[in-house]
Amino acid sequence: MKNENLESVARKLVAAGRGILAADESSPTIEKRLKSIGVASTEENRRTYREILFTTTGLGEFISGVILFDETIRQETRDGRAFVEVLEQQAIIPGIKVDKGTKPMANFPGEKITEGLDGLRERLAEYRQLGARFAKWRAVISISDKIPTHRCIETNAELLARYAALSQEADLVPVVEPEVLMDGTHTIERHFEVTEQVAEIVFHALSEHRVTLEAMLLKPNMVLSGKDCPHQAQVQEVAEMTLRCMNRVVPAAVPGLVFLSGGQSDLQVTEHLNAMNRLDHAPWELSFSFGRALQAPVLKAWKGDPTNVADAQRALHHRAWCNSKARFGKYTTEMEIKKAAA
Ligand code: 13P
Repeated sequence: MKNENLESVARKLVAAGRGILAADESSPTIEKRLKSIGVASTEENRRTYREILFTTTGLGEFISGVILFDETIRQETRDGRAFVEVLEQQAIIPGIKVDKGTKPMANFPGEKITEGLDGLRERLAEYRQLGARFAKWRAVISISDKIPTHRCIETNAELLARYAALSQEADLVPVVEPEVLMDGTHTIERHFEVTEQVAEIVFHALSEHRVTLEAMLLKPNMVLSGKDCPHQAQVQEVAEMTLRCMNRVVPAAVPGLVFLSGGQSDLQVTEHLNAMNRLDHAPWELSFSFGRALQAPVLKAWKGDPTNVADAQRALHHRAWCNSKARFGKYTTEMEIKKAAA
């Protein structure tokens, strides 16, 4: 069967109790993160930080895959083991960010287009050779009174579909990420409407480009009140609205949804994931692919000080454990004070 192997990788990425760690910050983004703890973004500091993440003992119990950046997939631990091998030894599948970031869309103020299709076929072949088994491309949609426009959504959807088709051709599982930002004053109803519209257009494009739905994952945003909306929806409403939205537009053939955290606090996003899994209204696995929500406590614990490495790794292990519990709908806030070993 075509893409049988890819289907099995996609299913492994959303296996019970496990999810994805997004550690694919581009150079400007990782610089911002490291600067927030007073660490300079040198190649060696970036390598050291990622080594802390990937060598966390027992991480593979809760983490199925890690998304890497171009620089990171080529790096090694201090004692000379390739990061890709270190991950595989923890039964973690290496993935790679393949888009080249967003740029303003000409003639469409406030809207963005993701770049990276030029030379993508060759880059994907190289990443596959380096050990990646899945790929990620992020499109960004912003909300205001006048946007998003239909043209911006269509263009981003077309790019996502072309990337997804090329990824499957290169034997990589595409993780398709159309992120509708939570920035703004919009209501949860407006976020629902835009998220639904975007997903519908993205799946239409994927189908036109003959992407095998069983061999991909969707990385959606949760449906939320805008960050600056005076009325903030509570946990249960977020869970219900997100699943209602996804049920309308995401085909059951897709093995899993791996939600992004998108600037929600680490505790809040775990509660939302937990509430969705308790509702159990979904034909797909409901999992995570968190960047900030898994890494924020790690950065805070590490602060660039080698004597804090064990604390930083404990923080990552704990957050991964909490999110693993949330995948079963078994997370409680009391777990925040317990050690992961409890
Ligand atoms: P956040 O969870 O920080 O939104 O990052 C996920 C990601 O990979 C964005 O592309």
